[in-house]
Amino acid sequence: MTENSPRTYAADALTTDRYSWLAAAGGAAPSLHNSQPWHFRATEDRHGLLVCQDPSRAVPVTDPMGRALHVSIGAALLNIRVAAASLGLETRLRLLPDPTRPDLVAALTFDQPTPGIGPHPDAALYPAIAQRHSSRRPFTNRDVPERLVGELIVVADREGVVLAMLEEAETRRVLALTTEAERRTAADVTREAETRSWVHLEAPAADGIPAEALGPLDRDARVPVRSFTGHPPHGAPASARFEPLPQLATFTTAHDDRTAWVRTGMALERVWLLATLNDVHGSVLHQAVEWPDTRWQLRDPETGPGYVQIILRLGYGPPGAATPRRPVTEILQID
Ligand SMILES: Cc1cc2nc3c(=O)[nH]c(=O)nc-3n(C[C@H](O)[C@H](O)[C@H](O)COP(=O)(O)O)c2cc1C
Repeated sequence: MTENSPRTYAADALTTDRYSWLAAAGGAAPSLHNSQPWHFRATEDRHGLLVCQDPSRAVPVTDPMGRALHVSIGAALLNIRVAAASLGLETRLRLLPDPTRPDLVAALTFDQPTPGIGPHPDAALYPAIAQRHSSRRPFTNRDVPERLVGELIVVADREGVVLAMLEEAETRRVLALTTEAERRTAADVTREAETRSWVHLEAPAADGIPAEALGPLDRDARVPVRSFTGHPPHGAPASARFEPLPQLATFTTAHDDRTAWVRTGMALERVWLLATLNDVHGSVLHQAVEWPDTRWQLRDPETGPGYVQIILRLGYGPPGAATPRRPVTEILQID
């Protein structure tokens, strides 16, 4: 991935408008508590983009290792790759290219495709970047079609991540672990305070979660959605009846390092965008991944060793509300 492929030759230097297009797409990615822990810098030659972490936007109590931070940045990277494809550009990606610069998560170089080779297939995902929102409301009982599940597995695999759509017994096991993790989080004053600090119920903000994006809790306590406003919740919609058996997809990697985390984010966003194009909504159930022992137990005994990185609940139902994003001028630097 570090060499020019036969599909490409060097593109013209990128204009400020093009950089803004790429940064806006990156900034629209999902992130833990909408923390948006990224920063983008144009390369001096204007043919590339450096994607860095912004440690001032970490969520240290919930995410002490920076695992979710890297997943979030991975999702931003995927969006940038898709936005580049929508501009007719090919992207070369180097993950963690410089061991002396731990803040640098990825270096992207943009090339022109060889004439006549046709648009990159990722361009088709571009409209879904703006349409995708976390949907925390109850879904219907309608199954995600097998055909689409198969495609989601394939696109996650392209990023080196194993997606599994859970069967009923496995779903119930994962829900029980998530319920236990949510219970523990509720009892942890520091975690609750940290989560609450990212929820902005009254004053508008450029990050975090606004009231419109919150969902109800499950009246039957089957689907343990995160309560962002404490226990009992404050300012969230009243409880509601959720789908009896949610459709859960787990994302698993063979290793548990920064590369695996970033790849998980790219797979998550690729899957979520493709689902969005097919009118399937999603929301993340992350609580069980945030406690070492529940995370360990998430591993599917059938599929063997591996590290569960994230869980996505998929289904049909009401779309989620848009959440705010920091302006491009704050996340993009062009010297
Ligand atoms: C690593 C990670 C963990 C997340 N955990 C949760 C979660 O446990 N519950 C939830 O409702 N949303 C979760 N989210 C979704 C974010 O809250 C959401 O992406 C963010 O608020 C922006 O909203 P949007 O997805 O609608 O753009 C998570 C997202 C990421 C990337």
